[in-house]
Amino acid sequence: MQAISTPTTPIAGQKPGTSGLRKKTRVFMQPGYLESFVQAIWNGIGGVQGKVLVLGGDGRYFNDRAAQVILRMAAASGAARVITGAGAILSTPAASNLIRQRGADGGIILSASHNPGGPDADFGVKYNIANGGPAPEAVTAAIHAASEALDHYLTLEAPDIDLSHLGETRLGDMVVEVVDPVADYADLMETLFDFKVMRALLQNGFQLRFDAMHAVTGPYAVEILERRLGAAPGSVINARPLPDFGQGHPDPNPVWAKPLYDAMFAPGAPDFAAASDGDGDRNMVMGRGIYVTPSDSLALLAAQAHLCPGYAGGLKGVARSMPTSRAVDRVAQSRGWPCYATPTGWKFFGTLLDAGRVTLCGEESFGTGSDHVREKDGLWAVLMWLNILAVTGKPVAQLMADHWAEFGRTWYSRHDYEGIDAATAEALISDLRAALPGLPGQQAGGLRIESAEDFAYTDPVDGSRAERQGIQIGFAGGERAVLRLSGTGTEGATLRVYLEAYERVPRGDDTQAALAPVLAAVEALAGIRARTGRAGPDVVT
Ligand code: G1P
Ligand code: ZN
Repeated sequence: MQAISTPTTPIAGQKPGTSGLRKKTRVFMQPGYLESFVQAIWNGIGGVQGKVLVLGGDGRYFNDRAAQVILRMAAASGAARVITGAGAILSTPAASNLIRQRGADGGIILSASHNPGGPDADFGVKYNIANGGPAPEAVTAAIHAASEALDHYLTLEAPDIDLSHLGETRLGDMVVEVVDPVADYADLMETLFDFKVMRALLQNGFQLRFDAMHAVTGPYAVEILERRLGAAPGSVINARPLPDFGQGHPDPNPVWAKPLYDAMFAPGAPDFAAASDGDGDRNMVMGRGIYVTPSDSLALLAAQAHLCPGYAGGLKGVARSMPTSRAVDRVAQSRGWPCYATPTGWKFFGTLLDAGRVTLCGEESFGTGSDHVREKDGLWAVLMWLNILAVTGKPVAQLMADHWAEFGRTWYSRHDYEGIDAATAEALISDLRAALPGLPGQQAGGLRIESAEDFAYTDPVDGSRAERQGIQIGFAGGERAVLRLSGTGTEGATLRVYLEAYERVPRGDDTQAALAPVLAAVEALAGIRARTGRAGPDVVT
């Protein structure tokens, strides 16, 4: 087998600082495009000579072909071994687990997360480091620099490898090891949660529905929920992974998982429902007649974690992304745990988890996780909920009501304005940024502004600094608004507006009504409607 060297294709528009590259699938399918990015990864991490890598993806369109390209390129550059799930499938948390368990040097995950899949949809490639987590800024900056300096890539002239059978084969001098994508992950879950008490719950008529959204968690959920825990067959719906996710948008939120959401408010709703995204790292949680916001879910899991065997010793601390609601802060405060607010993006939790400063962390964007891996983990969150439901014997709605009675209620919602003109979005943020110093003390839409900042973060473990991470405005009544531009959209700009208010003794159940004064303040400060010409947000979660 011969290594060949080919000129590269420019990788247009890779944002420095993003953990991977996410583009239209057809862009990745251009001759040499995927290859050029993969070579930039190899060069950016100091080569792969003698290294062990994990490789897997969420099964979306082009996953299979991209995996073969990457295997040939790893072999051509001297990697010792690549471990991959059968069919080149691995959920993101399972990949993170495999990197850690096998002591691999890193891994490549093929996914565009919750974005749709297919030839005309999205694809992505992400590099994770040896701790199992997304590459931190220093590594992504090195990959970005390597991509700019690239002039050739190395590959092997070799036929495709059969990835459908478990076991080892060789590609040149490299070993390709195909493993069961589910087994190790499912075993890990058994070490964290009380499968016996959950099995008993499910045997006693507790009804569960898990929507895999035709994405990667299908086989994981069937194995864990139906086979190992004994949930009724069919409890996992849309369980068969499809390359285009059945034409759906595999994003577990009230908008994209609407059928599941609606079913939970209809007669005959099961006791508990959940959904996960394309690559299995996100989760949405619901009970009969109740939707739990991700921020509240994080707070509840933190407050009740001790009921699960893996967390019985208590939590070392908790972390949330800055825009995530401060519901978890209130739990941390009452329990005396350290609580960190980090910039948006899972990679910022990595150092805190590695240093043993936090056990649980989460983001408002349907991401929750712990120190068991270095990615957010959809099924893990579902199992933690189930474990808590089984031990307490309370319905979801009761658990949440008790939680709010103890800690007060943190009202929270995110409003997204999608596909807006990039220049308009940039101007909106930069004008607001320029106005920040003069804001404290002023009134906005009936609220008095107490603080105004562009969030900056110094990592308490490694001292690295991240600036301009979102405009954060605090109001006198404890309300808060955050505005930032999405870093993951693939079309135009997405403006995210995060609204929060707090009531010690919660009244009513209308989140948007509770947040209306904060929304009015944001509109007064940023003039979103006038600037964008939009009557309102595209997505409210
Ligand atoms: C979004 C979420 C963020 C999450 C990221 C990756 O990023 O808001 O919390 O970490 O996806 O799943 P954004 O598009 O806001 O930059
Ligand atoms: Zn995801």
